[in-house]
Amino acid sequence: MPRSLNIFLFFLCLAVITPTMNASELETEKFWKEERPEFDQYWEERSVEAKEFNQKAYFPDPFEVSGNLTASITEVIAGKNLRRNLRGNKGGGQCLATNPIDRCWRCDPNWADNRQKLADCVQGFGRNTRGGKGGPIYVVTDPSDDELMDPKPGTLRYAVTRNGPLWITFAHNMLITLQQELIMNSDKTIDGRGVDVYIANGAGITVQFVKNIIIHGIKIYNIQVREGGTIRDSETHYGLRTRSDGDGISIFGSSNIWIDHVSMKNCTDGLIDAIMGSTAITISNSHFTDHNEVMLFGANDNHKEDKIMQITLAFNHFGKRLVQRMPRARFGFVHCVNNDYTHWEMYAIGGSSNPTIISEGNRFIGPENKMVGKDLINSKEVTKREYTDESIWKSWQWRSINDEFLSDAYFIQSGPELKDRPFSRQDMITAKPGSYVGRLTRFAGNLQCIVGKPC
Ligand SMILES: *[C@@H]1O[C@H](CO)[C@@H](O)[C@H](O)[C@H]1NC(C)=O
Ligand SMILES: *[C@@H]1O[C@H](CO)[C@@H](O)[C@H](O)[C@H]1NC(C)=O
Repeated sequence: MPRSLNIFLFFLCLAVITPTMNASELETEKFWKEERPEFDQYWEERSVEAKEFNQKAYFPDPFEVSGNLTASITEVIAGKNLRRNLRGNKGGGQCLATNPIDRCWRCDPNWADNRQKLADCVQGFGRNTRGGKGGPIYVVTDPSDDELMDPKPGTLRYAVTRNGPLWITFAHNMLITLQQELIMNSDKTIDGRGVDVYIANGAGITVQFVKNIIIHGIKIYNIQVREGGTIRDSETHYGLRTRSDGDGISIFGSSNIWIDHVSMKNCTDGLIDAIMGSTAITISNSHFTDHNEVMLFGANDNHKEDKIMQITLAFNHFGKRLVQRMPRARFGFVHCVNNDYTHWEMYAIGGSSNPTIISEGNRFIGPENKMVGKDLINSKEVTKREYTDESIWKSWQWRSINDEFLSDAYFIQSGPELKDRPFSRQDMITAKPGSYVGRLTRFAGNLQCIVGKPC
């Protein structure tokens, strides 16, 4: 190769790759070898228990689950339900639910007396998540977070560390600045409906070796690295934690997780990470902005336990000033359905280590070309296979079905075509589903629900 071309390629690579270089700390070998301390005996036991329930949460036939979600969206689009819902319902007031998850609860004017009904609404891989359903309602009254070992009753940290199911609501609007990561115990719902709850300017939420978590209707932003310390994680245990890395929500070895109608931006590390054999996760109706590395599903090419990872991304809006990783996946199975990808700088969906990615009915709007120095940077490709030769990735199953591509966006498919799926009932659909995304995601992010009215 002529030297000048070599140099040119080198600079081109630099221009394209530089932003990837600040890879998530979790992805470095150094982190796993040196910084991740050995778990103490308590967490060792928790991890063994978690492995068992994560394995049970795994669906041996992921296409069945993703097909079911697709079929119910098709019904909303093709049937009269959407129009009926848009016109309002007998309960009084207008109900604007535009997708099958929302349609399950938003039209009920008594949603506030019926909060636990929400737990029946989840679809996709997180479909068996019940959160705190069946447990008492716990009302957070105190936004402070001063006592990490012995949290004050009335605080969010007190609520999430109780043993047993709890449905957590908030007495009034509040800004909660977490002094250290908020370590959740199993069987909890954080339900911000009806008030404005901001978790911001401090540590983020940690979902480690637990199951059954719903996080709904809150805003999470400006999450920062915190140094760690002694932190309570359940009624019966507290322990020493090292540095938290600044994720908004960190899912670690956990299953049956549903994140819905959450608005997130500007966290130090990822907005949402799911790693270490986590599975049965649905992330829906959420709005993401102002962030570089949005979602990391699987942190390390050696973590083969992530093969059981199954995640649904549905009706989310990936919005302004996002750069990459929506998501970046390893191993596992990701169903991206009816999301609105309006902004990315580098790529939207990427990965390594043979993840399966089914992209269905999304809208992808390619970014404008831009000049970086003398180079024209074109990032209209939706997909990115990281550090892998085409001879290898050509067998990974990355399929795009009924996606809509605007502004020259394009998806490079690979692997076997999809066959025998329920969603091939295409005759039910009057238009390409991708073109409905604007409507399906119109209410992505935190909702303003008023007690006594449909939301
Ligand atoms: C998918 O839907 C069908 C029909 O409603 C149901 O019988 C089946 O159990 C569902 N599959 C899963 C995995 O939930
Ligand atoms: C992002 O968050 C950091 C704190 O983690 C803050 O210093 C910075 O101002 C925030 N940026 C924006 C654009 O809000």
